[in-house]
Amino acid sequence: PAMPQLALAIFCAVTISSLVPGIVGAIYCAWTRRKQRKRTPTYDLNIPIDYNALGIGGLDKELTEIRRRALASRTLSPQEVEEMEIEHVRGILLYGPPGTGKTLIARKIGGLLKAASTKIVNGPEILDKYVGVSEQRIRELFAAAECDQDRQGANSGLHVIIFDEIDAICKKRGEMDNHVNDTIVDQLLAKMDGIEQLNNILVIGITNLPELLDSALLRPGRFEIQMKVINLPDEAGRLQIFEIRTAKLKENNKLDGSVNLKELAKKTKQYSGAGIAGLITMADFKRALGEKPKKKEEKDQNEQNVDESSSLKKSEEKEEKANMTLSKKKTYNPIKRVRHYVAKKTCDALRGD
Ligand SMILES: Nc1ncnc2c1ncn2[C@@H]1O[C@H](COP(=O)(O)OP(=O)(O)OP(=O)(O)O)[C@@H](O)[C@H]1O
Ligand SMILES: [Mg+2]
Repeated sequence: PAMPQLALAIFCAVTISSLVPGIVGAIYCAWTRRKQRKRTPTYDLNIPIDYNALGIGGLDKELTEIRRRALASRTLSPQEVEEMEIEHVRGILLYGPPGTGKTLIARKIGGLLKAASTKIVNGPEILDKYVGVSEQRIRELFAAAECDQDRQGANSGLHVIIFDEIDAICKKRGEMDNHVNDTIVDQLLAKMDGIEQLNNILVIGITNLPELLDSALLRPGRFEIQMKVINLPDEAGRLQIFEIRTAKLKENNKLDGSVNLKELAKKTKQYSGAGIAGLITMADFKRALGEKPKKKEEKDQNEQNVDESSSLKKSEEKEEKANMTLSKKKTYNPIKRVRHYVAKKTCDALRGD
């Protein structure tokens, strides 16, 4: 009687073990599907953005606008997206003069939108002297998004791809001597709005020179949101930038108690975000070299005994002078002047002047 029992036991064991992989596979599939459903990108546009935590000052209006316009359709469920054949916004163009925070915004957008991945590439890095390599690089940038879309369809996470200095690769077609530029534009358009089009991407182009771009790029379905990041920050914005840039110093007790950020914000009219960042870097630099405020300012200690203040005062005087002489000449570029000033002072400090 032991033999039939043993045979039965072996039979049962073999049957169960052959069924196990199937059962485990089914459970795994159901579980991943559930997980995918949980990963559904749903956004609540009413949740306010913590700009200080983001480290972006004075650009509240631009960021809120980007979030509202680029994300309206992404608040819908994947099912609604499929049923209504919704096409999400796939491109944003940020343009404006240097140092106004375009690259900074673009870098933060991925986090803000809870993107699955964020890639940033400089336009000139895409270019290659060999035929087809530049186009290949564009395709590689989109490969992960493509794979995700194939596997997960409307449930796919968002892939943010940033092209800084996009004017280097997307100049008007038909105007260049070589045709590399034309095929790069074609390739980018194909991924954004062609047969190979993806619905899980957000491409951000950044440029100082939007007038150089091929107009086909700016059509709806491509870089349809165009945001001019031009305004120099107002006093409240400048205060925000000062607060962001000195937060770490404050946290580590390296910021003198006499530093009045409000006053600095008042005094830095016409400064861009980069200008303010440059000033603080220079103040740090001076402190690192143990530079003391000049005698003249030392007399006036109650009012201004901060390195930053003294450098700002000087910078203002210089700016005024420059403004007077420059107004006779051509246009006045405050950002260039700040950069020039910062560079010169840094050199002076290095020389020990
Ligand atoms: N609004 C801002 N808030 C905080 N920091 C800022 C802001 N704008 C600029 N900065 C600082 O200035 C630096 C330069 O800014 P960013 O690189 O974003 O300028 P940009 O507009 O991309 O300039 P460009 O057109 O020359 O590339 C940043 O690293 C950042 O530290
Ligand atoms: Mg930039």
